Amino acid sequence: MSPRREILHEEAVAGPEGAERVVLPLQEEGEDALEASLRPRSLDDFIGQRQLRERLGVVLEAARRRGQPVDHLLFAGPPGLGKTTLAGIVAAEMRANLRITSGPALVRSGDIAALLTALDPGDVLFIDEIHRLGRAVEEVLYPAMEDFQLDVVIGKGPTARSIRLDLPRFTLVGATTRTGLVTGPLRDRFGFVTRLDHYDPDELEQIVTRSARLLGVESDAEGAAEIARRSRGTPRLAIRLLRRVRDFVEVKGTGVITRASARAGLEHFGVDELGLDRLDRSILETLCIRFAGQPVGLSSLAVCVGEEPETVEDVYEPFLVACGLVLRTPRGRVAAERAYVHLGLPTPSGLQSSPPPSLFDEATEQPESGRI
Ligand SMILES: Nc1ncnc2c1ncn2[C@@H]1O[C@H](COP(=O)(O)OP(=O)(O)OP(=O)(O)O)[C@@H](O)[C@H]1O
Ligand SMILES: [Mg+2]
Repeated sequence: MSPRREILHEEAVAGPEGAERVVLPLQEEGEDALEASLRPRSLDDFIGQRQLRERLGVVLEAARRRGQPVDHLLFAGPPGLGKTTLAGIVAAEMRANLRITSGPALVRSGDIAALLTALDPGDVLFIDEIHRLGRAVEEVLYPAMEDFQLDVVIGKGPTARSIRLDLPRFTLVGATTRTGLVTGPLRDRFGFVTRLDHYDPDELEQIVTRSARLLGVESDAEGAAEIARRSRGTPRLAIRLLRRVRDFVEVKGTGVITRASARAGLEHFGVDELGLDRLDRSILETLCIRFAGQPVGLSSLAVCVGEEPETVEDVYEPFLVACGLVLRTPRGRVAAERAYVHLGLPTPSGLQSSPPPSLFDEATEQPESGRI
């Protein structure tokens, strides 16, 4: 989610073994900088996503043994689940430079050509929001990914000619919140495509405990569990709630996060039992009350809650769908039975009953895009 990541600058940071060169977004400051400082730097520190970790571990180890850069990797999944973190880990584990950019920042073919020709052998090039790359940029990427070659057109008009440049072998790591919008030819050029799932409460509890330790906040296991339970399966949210609860206990409590102080803090900031915030509830109220259970199109829903359709679709819906509160049907979004129960409303008769919550049971392959 990074329209903010558009300007690049370079900064030396300490990797697992000394300094490495990393290209970081200029505006990364305040809460963003804090988020970055909590990022695990090795695969062993990365909590949860067991299957992904094991598979990625094998891919990285094999490349290391062969002394070659890793194959291109594509990470997909809802915001805040660890895609950017994994890109950093790949670079750190391979002792490689990490260069970060994002789809919307690459407009013309020259933008990507400039980045590619500046790469050193083995560099990891991370393109966030890769589904938002322009067509011209994608076409430059195809031969670059496949054959490590770059076609450059020199001159204009009848005298223009095309030359082919060799590029160093590099690893492209792409991240997307919408696999469905990554074009087939681009997706096919990745050697390892994987999807991140929402985390279960135990994993989130470990993430909260680890982050509390790094932030120097005292928290007992029950306090961490309470925050984890309301974090919508999302590490970024778990960390954000932890910081708000820390503010609360420092100002109104003893400075220690316990179950009681966590509950009071979360209530104070309007986070309910399921971890839903004001906008989530507003989505549910729109579906249940305003449209009285009728299917609602994405753009109408977005207007009613005062948000951009993309934000509703990418940020809010995946969790509401995954925990069985909202259904996506061919005719539009519909509130499921569980939504009425959660809002304390009578359930309309003849309502399509909600599927069992799948969030923590199995891999949650979200319906992609499918805008209605
Ligand atoms: N498995 C994990 N273990 C510990 N912390 C994690 C894990 N996954 C994510 N985090 C933390 O959650 C925060 C968000 O992660 P990250 O920025 O990598 O998400 P993202 O998938 O790139 O999100 P977006 O799609 O919005 O860019 C980071 O601060 C990171 O430290
Ligand atoms: Mg990211």
